[in-house]
Amino acid sequence: MKIIGIAADHGGFEGKEKLLIQLREAGYEVKDYGARQYDPDDDYPDLIIPLAEAVARGEAERGIAICGSGVGASIVANKIAGVRAALITETYSAHQGVEHDDMNIMCIGGRVIGPVLIWELTEAFLKAAYIGGGRFGRRLDKVIALEAKKPASGPVG
Ligand code: RB5
Repeated sequence: MKIIGIAADHGGFEGKEKLLIQLREAGYEVKDYGARQYDPDDDYPDLIIPLAEAVARGEAERGIAICGSGVGASIVANKIAGVRAALITETYSAHQGVEHDDMNIMCIGGRVIGPVLIWELTEAFLKAAYIGGGRFGRRLDKVIALEAKKPASGPVG
């Protein structure tokens, strides 16, 4: 696997620091998109967007984004075309999200789960491969087609 990107705001900073060490010890090449130091006033979009853009342009093959809940990270990462991010809390979805949906960023709540589960999710996510073709390819094509569509001009309803 190529480079793994990781990023976190203050809510995920501690989890990211530990994960960075674990990934490197496991032999992965990791790029840290920040935060480089704990800043209780940092904003998750400023940290997660550079990671998401790196994944979208292929600089990082997969990304792991950690904020307090994982919600903000997943919302903002999915604004970047080419990113398929999801908030993950259990191992089935950590690998099935890659196998079926080609998830390329896993989002985690650093205030929700501890370091042992973060590592188990990470291993499941990084070891999984997209199955592709057939129904999986058909579904993914429909998702990707949305990125070319212009947004609606006003609120619906
Ligand atoms: C930061 O305090 C917190 O709001 C943020 O990390 C995250 O949980 C947002 O979804």
